[in-house]
Amino acid sequence: MGELRGTHVPVLLERCLELLAPALGRGGRTVHVDATLGLAGHAEAVLRAHPETVLIGLDRDTEALAHARVRLARFADRVHLEHAVYDELPEVLDRLGYPGIDGILFDLGVSSLQLDAPDRGFAYAQDAPLDMRMDQTRGVTAEEVVNTYSHPDLARVLRVYGEEKFAGRIASAIIRERERAPITSSARLAELVRESIPAPARRTGGHPAKRTFQALRIEVNRELAALETALPAALDRLNVGGRMVVLSYHSLEDRLTKAALAERVRSKGPIDLPVELPGSGPTFRLLSRGAELPGEVEVAANPRAASVRLRAAERIDPNAEQQGRTDRERSRRRVKAMHQPGTGSTAATAGDSGGRDRDGRRGGGT
Ligand SMILES: C[S@@+](CC[C@H](N)C(=O)[O-])C[C@H]1O[C@@H](n2cnc3c(N)ncnc32)[C@H](O)[C@@H]1O
Repeated sequence: MGELRGTHVPVLLERCLELLAPALGRGGRTVHVDATLGLAGHAEAVLRAHPETVLIGLDRDTEALAHARVRLARFADRVHLEHAVYDELPEVLDRLGYPGIDGILFDLGVSSLQLDAPDRGFAYAQDAPLDMRMDQTRGVTAEEVVNTYSHPDLARVLRVYGEEKFAGRIASAIIRERERAPITSSARLAELVRESIPAPARRTGGHPAKRTFQALRIEVNRELAALETALPAALDRLNVGGRMVVLSYHSLEDRLTKAALAERVRSKGPIDLPVELPGSGPTFRLLSRGAELPGEVEVAANPRAASVRLRAAERIDPNAEQQGRTDRERSRRRVKAMHQPGTGSTAATAGDSGGRDRDGRRGGGT
């Protein structure tokens, strides 16, 4: 393991701890998954704040895991560190013997360790071999993508994952260049992208190669496919009262997160029924209103936080929630009836068993 390069300040740390606290600090041994362990900044803070909590930390990057292991050494008796892609979470939990979990954090994207590495090719700002694999033990590299994909495939990757307006032009420039000689370095690729977009566009929206590098990284690591599978699988494993927090750094990740949560917080029953049918009610409630953004102070202290979007949700007990809804519906109907002319101020309504007996007679009170 080499020297730790750069520094990593965990993004929205206090907010993440605040959101996870009711789930992890409710007494007894609770289980928290850090699905993107990285340098374990968030994980260490969780372990400190919750002395009873067991941490399961996943990362696909063996170098990150090695650093995390050192950092978390003093908590070793309640920490499991796993080399895994986060869509493998169900298998990891089964193997370790944890059917349910109480908290899970996804802090998506690359770590500063990866970005700052002079040899991994994530950064357009420094020259390196075009690798970009978070897991250097398997998978195709960015060099293979750039030198073998067809024009339509390259253009699609750049357009969809990079939201790059000039995807077609950049793909054409890549194909022309690789016919001359294979593209093997991040500096050459960054220069090629800069040259292939119109001069006025080079002056806006940050470095011209930023979107291309993001797109290639997402393609190489199959980031969105893994996230799309991992989010519902993680939600499925949360105990009632358990909480998920997701930190996204681009709109594609945030859209997938929003969709996965929306699926759980909506009712699946007929909309015209006054109460939920059993099994059709929401199974989660949102803890964030829309996507939460970082404050100015955090962005000033930690530029990596600038693009973050936080969403969080808690698993609810559908039966308790069903009961709550039924009670609310009853009292709503009672109030409505009280205001209907001719029914009298204490009139009970159909379905209000507290006001009528089984045969529909008012009164009784037993
Ligand atoms: C932004 S960093 C996490 C930083 C961490 N929260 C901390 O405080 O140090 C993201 C980490 O997630 C890992 N990662 C990204 N996608 C992953 C995936 N699909 N499965 C497992 N790990 C992943 C990366 O290798 C990286 O180490």
